[in-house]
Amino acid sequence: METVVSGIRSTGNLHLGNYYGAIQNFVKMQNEYNCFFFIADLHSLTTHPTPADLHGNVKQVLVEYLAAGLDPEKVTLYIQSDVPETTELYLYLNMNAYVGELERSTSFKDKIRAQPDNVNAGLLTYPVLMAADIILHRATKVPVGKDQEQHLEMSRTFANRFNRLYNHDYFPEPYAFNFSENLVKIPGLDGKGKMGKSEGEGNAVYLSDSPEAIRKKVMRAVTDSGPTADNQEKPQEIQNLFDLIKVVSSADTYEHFDNLYNTCNIRYGDLKKQLAEDIIIATAPIRDRIKDISTDSAYLRQVARHGAIKARESASKTIKDVREIIGFRSF
Ligand code: TRP
Repeated sequence: METVVSGIRSTGNLHLGNYYGAIQNFVKMQNEYNCFFFIADLHSLTTHPTPADLHGNVKQVLVEYLAAGLDPEKVTLYIQSDVPETTELYLYLNMNAYVGELERSTSFKDKIRAQPDNVNAGLLTYPVLMAADIILHRATKVPVGKDQEQHLEMSRTFANRFNRLYNHDYFPEPYAFNFSENLVKIPGLDGKGKMGKSEGEGNAVYLSDSPEAIRKKVMRAVTDSGPTADNQEKPQEIQNLFDLIKVVSSADTYEHFDNLYNTCNIRYGDLKKQLAEDIIIATAPIRDRIKDISTDSAYLRQVARHGAIKARESASKTIKDVREIIGFRSF
């Protein structure tokens, strides 16, 4: 069975876009591959979180992924900092990652623009840590978005370079991989592009939002002044709302509002009310599980321990081989 690895950013609540995109992708993979999913808390140190924030963020992400359907009996779900083999491999890989190539990475350039007062070496070597995460389990498949393509290319470079340096065909090449070709794209509520937390307040509906908050956000979604001719093409902000309805509502509901739009009888207030209620229904089980799991410390502790043990089993095998290959041998 092929091995899949993916890192989950440890900051930010999950929104509908994450849920219908990346998470459903993970949930489908858990039945077909040997999956390692981890919360990337070491990576988050590049932004200097406080200890309380760091812990709170990791907990929230863990709770929400469990609530959204990741099954810790099927996948190895762990917290990156619980697996010290990660940092050991990171150190070895750093010895053959060149400063010039790291400085040229677009994500490094973006990050130094975003935090000019904190250009630490961890930012520079972020792609090396990511490569270590992946090749630690000798994974070949990495479910990530387009924005991570360059990082994956660097992972392949570091894996190949290690193999060449020690003349040992040890690490396979990891490639980006998504379960289905066309992941569902969830538009935001601002009338523009996709749902995202960086697109401003009110654009994203979070899985942890209360029904009241969901109603408020949806009622404020951007619309136009309405169609003026039958069967008119929908402008983007209206198409976005219909796209959301397609995902969370029944086919009948979609058709109902589509007909109203096409005959110029639509009232956006009604459509939004229905959309809000259907989002609330679609996310209710997850919202309930978030509440239950977040107060169940015993369960969270057990999940984290179980994940760390399974991850370290795989990681320590690799590290043992790598030490031998590098030449750290016992007398
Ligand atoms: N860089 C990834 C992101 O920003 C997170 C990540 C860290 C990751 N390590 C990884 C993803 C290893 C895949 C594999 O989303």
